[in-house]
Amino acid sequence: MISIAIMGFGTIGSGVFDVVNINREILKKHVGDEVQVKYVLDIREFPGQPVEKVLVNDVNRILEDPEITVVVETMGGVEPAYTFVKKALEAGKSVATSNKELVAAKGHELMAAAREKGVSFLFEASVGGGIPILRPLRTCLTADRIEEITGILNGTTNYILTKMGQEGTPFETALSEAQAMGFAERRPEADVEGHDACRKLAILLSMVLKERVDPADIYTEGITKITAVDFVCARALGMEIKLLADAEIHEDAVFAMVSPFLVKPDNPLYAVRDVFNGILVHGNMVDDLLFYGRGAGKEATASAVVGDVVEMLQHPAGTVYDGWGEEKRVLSDITRDRHSFLIRVPDQEAEAVPRAFPGAEAVKAALEGEAAFVTEVLSEQEFSERAEKLSILGRIRVHA
Ligand code: HSE
Repeated sequence: MISIAIMGFGTIGSGVFDVVNINREILKKHVGDEVQVKYVLDIREFPGQPVEKVLVNDVNRILEDPEITVVVETMGGVEPAYTFVKKALEAGKSVATSNKELVAAKGHELMAAAREKGVSFLFEASVGGGIPILRPLRTCLTADRIEEITGILNGTTNYILTKMGQEGTPFETALSEAQAMGFAERRPEADVEGHDACRKLAILLSMVLKERVDPADIYTEGITKITAVDFVCARALGMEIKLLADAEIHEDAVFAMVSPFLVKPDNPLYAVRDVFNGILVHGNMVDDLLFYGRGAGKEATASAVVGDVVEMLQHPAGTVYDGWGEEKRVLSDITRDRHSFLIRVPDQEAEAVPRAFPGAEAVKAALEGEAAFVTEVLSEQEFSERAEKLSILGRIRVHA
């Protein structure tokens, strides 16, 4: 019998508890022994629930038990998760986490601690929920130079945009639905302002570059300024509005941003709806790859966490993944990045648009009191300079 511990019995932690119990036989086949949850750390009480028997509220019970070689962290947030994970690694225990905030902020330190002790720190569930994306990047795709990553990396915002676009659901209603289904972060700004997608993009880039990418260096815009009129324009153009996490990796420059984009129908991400995530990876040898699946939610995310647990139990000696270094990668200034833009202006300014943007084409949509155009492709800096000449009511980047 192999005993593991779970720190944090929220949506994902309780999912891990369920996966270990429901798929007991499957896990036994992969690990070669039965896996049981010996401790669940939480300050709350869960009277009458099966977890009650293994509930502890002192982390030292886990840290001081030599039977525990693998710990799951599903508390979320940086503290106290960081302190507990660091202590677990220093105590010679491997750790699997779903905590993207922790990995993006402190991953490099925790990987160093794991290397030092010859244990593992894995975090498949931190990006794309149940989608296997980090393991392919760190194992199967190491022969490729990854040149582009474009992802729908946040299930909550994709759910909101889908509901707003397809059913005309108001933003707040769609957000409440996502919260009720256990997709959203405790602080919904993390989802709707793009911070969660930004952290996930930082993790993906760090893994590909093997250098630390700081989420604070990634230009990030959320979906709170998207309106019903934007969806009317998107429909007229035959495109979908998606919150994309986009990175282009050149020899001498790395551009990264999180922003709402108009996505064309020939892009596989066009059809990624509801809570689903999609991640397009382009390698110089393998060409295009698409990873698709449930990007949030209890069972799917817990499945990814337990997959990490299995991998760590299969390799009890040594560090499974050595991670990325401490040194920070400097990202390129996005003012040099190039896109075309959907812009909306008051009706009376429609005539001024071609003077500011000579290549702009009018969007054929019946809008009240305003007009919409798609500009030519130009740099972010050129766009900002020319847009200053107009009273822009809204603008959305168009993905190439
Ligand atoms: N709030 C996140 C999302 C959870 O909606 O994608 C999964 O990381």
